[in-house]
Amino acid sequence: MVILQVEKVAKRFGGLLAVDDVSFSLDEGEILGLIGPNGAGKTTLFNLLTGFLQPESGRIHFRGADITRLPPHAICRLGMVRTFQIVRPFLRLSVLENVVVAALLRTNAMAAARRQAEDLLTFVGLEARRHTPAATLTLPDRKRLELGRALATQPRLLMLDEVMAGLTPTESDRFLGLIRQVNQRGVTVLLIEHVMRAVMALSHRVLVLNYGELIAAGSPAAVVRDRQVIEAYLGEDYAYAGTVREGNPGPPGEPTQDHGASAPERR
Ligand SMILES: Nc1ncnc2c1ncn2[C@@H]1O[C@H](COP(=O)(O)OP(=O)(O)OP(=O)(O)O)[C@@H](O)[C@H]1O
Ligand SMILES: [Mg+2]
Repeated sequence: MVILQVEKVAKRFGGLLAVDDVSFSLDEGEILGLIGPNGAGKTTLFNLLTGFLQPESGRIHFRGADITRLPPHAICRLGMVRTFQIVRPFLRLSVLENVVVAALLRTNAMAAARRQAEDLLTFVGLEARRHTPAATLTLPDRKRLELGRALATQPRLLMLDEVMAGLTPTESDRFLGLIRQVNQRGVTVLLIEHVMRAVMALSHRVLVLNYGELIAAGSPAAVVRDRQVIEAYLGEDYAYAGTVREGNPGPPGEPTQDHGASAPERR
């Protein structure tokens, strides 16, 4: 069953067509990877889908409802939540309080929200840090917190914007395991990621965005062999490597840092 249907969504920033008539659909239970070079429009597409930006044209349906132009909180209440490339917890609140705030979307009972938050902190491996102010967390722990907060809203569709950027291979492997478990519990996942090892291991299907346009879609194995994808994103080195090895740094420039829209071209 289709959970998300995106039809010809477009967004322009001045003269720049950041997202150019993008259409795709996502099946319930699927893990879909979204890849492409820096500035390809991946985060902008997330912003459009989750109501943080308004598309100029196109339509978005989530679980049968037209959500085009709904505000982010309404979309989140419907069960579609995203994490941010540049993580932004409530810095003065503790780790636990951050997750409780998110859990309060679904309940008014503080005790229930707290219980759920404690469970989620155990799940993401932050239970020992639960009383730490979010401001003092390391990058991997902030990423864990970001995942915990997103899960606390009880999403049907979880959208992850580079949750593994900047993590060591061991840390990103841990994340990979968490995302897989979330998916096995029935949550559909849409994942922006530059860490190709993770994209290959997790995704059932991959979409490739380049200059705002979808240039390829298919199984991970088919997409990494696609000439256009190699030229636009992966590079010849990746193509010649043949298989994705353990610890393979993936496309040049990894590990990626948190970077804004003004990040330099990867190559
Ligand atoms: N608010 C904005 N105002 C103007 N231009 C923007 C804005 N947000 C993004 N852009 C531009 O739109 C294009 C797409 O940016 P976007 O952040 O969506 O890329 P991305 O694929 O997420 O890249 P990265 O892999 O570096 O995160 C870029 O050229 C960027 O500079
Ligand atoms: Mg981005």
